[in-house]
Amino acid sequence: MGFTEQIEPSKQAALAEIGAASELAGLEQTKGKWIGPQGQFTALMKQMGSLSKEERPAAGRLINQAKVEIEAALAARRADLELKAALPKEPTDFTLPGRIRPLGRLHPLTQVTEDIVRSFRKIGFVVADGPEVEDDYHCFDALNTPADHPARDSQDTFYLDSPSRLLLRTHTSSVQIRVMKQQPPPVRIIVPGRVYRRDNADATHNPTFHQIEGLYVDKGVTVGDLKGTVEFVFRELMGEDVKIRFRPHYFSYTEPSFEIDFSNALVKKMGKDWLEIAGCGMVHPQVFENVGYDPEVWTGWAFGFGIERIAMLRYGINDIRLFYENDLRFLKQF
Ligand code: DAH
Repeated sequence: MGFTEQIEPSKQAALAEIGAASELAGLEQTKGKWIGPQGQFTALMKQMGSLSKEERPAAGRLINQAKVEIEAALAARRADLELKAALPKEPTDFTLPGRIRPLGRLHPLTQVTEDIVRSFRKIGFVVADGPEVEDDYHCFDALNTPADHPARDSQDTFYLDSPSRLLLRTHTSSVQIRVMKQQPPPVRIIVPGRVYRRDNADATHNPTFHQIEGLYVDKGVTVGDLKGTVEFVFRELMGEDVKIRFRPHYFSYTEPSFEIDFSNALVKKMGKDWLEIAGCGMVHPQVFENVGYDPEVWTGWAFGFGIERIAMLRYGINDIRLFYENDLRFLKQF
C-alpha cells in the first residue's frame, strides 16, 4: 500500500478507539498508542522523509489534517469523560431532607424589651433614645441631683476623661431631660437602653445592664394613672395573677417617689411575698423648671426599671451574668 493510502484507515482506527475509550486512563493509553513518540500514527508521519519532493506537499497536507482530527477527537472525548467523572455515581434523590441551617433568634433581653415596648405602644407611648456617653448635667444636675447630693454615691459612675466630665450614663433617666428639652408637652415616651455602674459582677450585678424609662407629662396626671399603667404593663408581661404595690421611697427627680413591689406565683415560689422591681414617682416641679415646662400647668409621672430583673423573673434565671456570656446552650432556650 502506498503512503497516502495508509493515512485514512490509520486515522479511522485511531478515531474508533478514541470513541470507544470509557475512562480517562484508557484514553491516555490510546493517545500514546497513536500519536505518542512511539505511536502508530507518529510512525506513519516519520515515513514522510522517504517521499519524493513532488509527493511531499500533498501527502503532508493530508497527514496533518488527519492529525488535527485525531487531536480534536481526543480533546472532545477527554471533556466528555471528565464531565462523566464529575457527575454523582448514584442518581440524586430529590426527596431527601435538606441540610438544616440553624436560624439565629432574639436574645432573651431583646425579647423582653420588645414585649414591654409592645405593651406601652398599645397605650400610646413611643420609644425615645439618648446617648450612653452623657454629661453630669443630663445624668444628675437637671434631675435635681447636684454634685454634693448623697444620691450620687449610690450610683457609682464611670467617668471618661476628667476635664470633659463625660460619663457613662448610670440610668436612662437622663433621656427624660433630653426629650423634654427638645419638645413641648405633652410627652408619652419609653426609653429602653443600656446603663453602666461601677459594680463588681455577681449573680445580681453587672457593670452594664439595661433599663426601661417611662415618662408621661400632661395636664392633670395622677399617681392613679401611674399605678394603673404599671399594673397594665406587668399583667401583659407576666400574667394575670400579678399584684403591684407602691412603697414610699426617695428619688431626687420625683415627689412623691415610690418603689414598686411586684408579686405573683413565681415570687411566692422563691419564698417571698414581694420583690422590688422599679422606681417611680410624680415628676418633681424643679425638673419641670429645669427643662422649661411650667410646673403650675404640667404634671407627670416617671418610672425606671431593670430589664434583666424582669427577664430573670420571667424565665426563672438566677444569675445575671448568663445574659452576657453568649453561651449557646443558654441562649437556645429562649
Ligand atoms: N433612675 C432610677 C434608677 O436608676 C430609676 C427611676 C426611679 C427612674 C424613679 C425614674 C423614677 O424615672 O421616677 O434606679
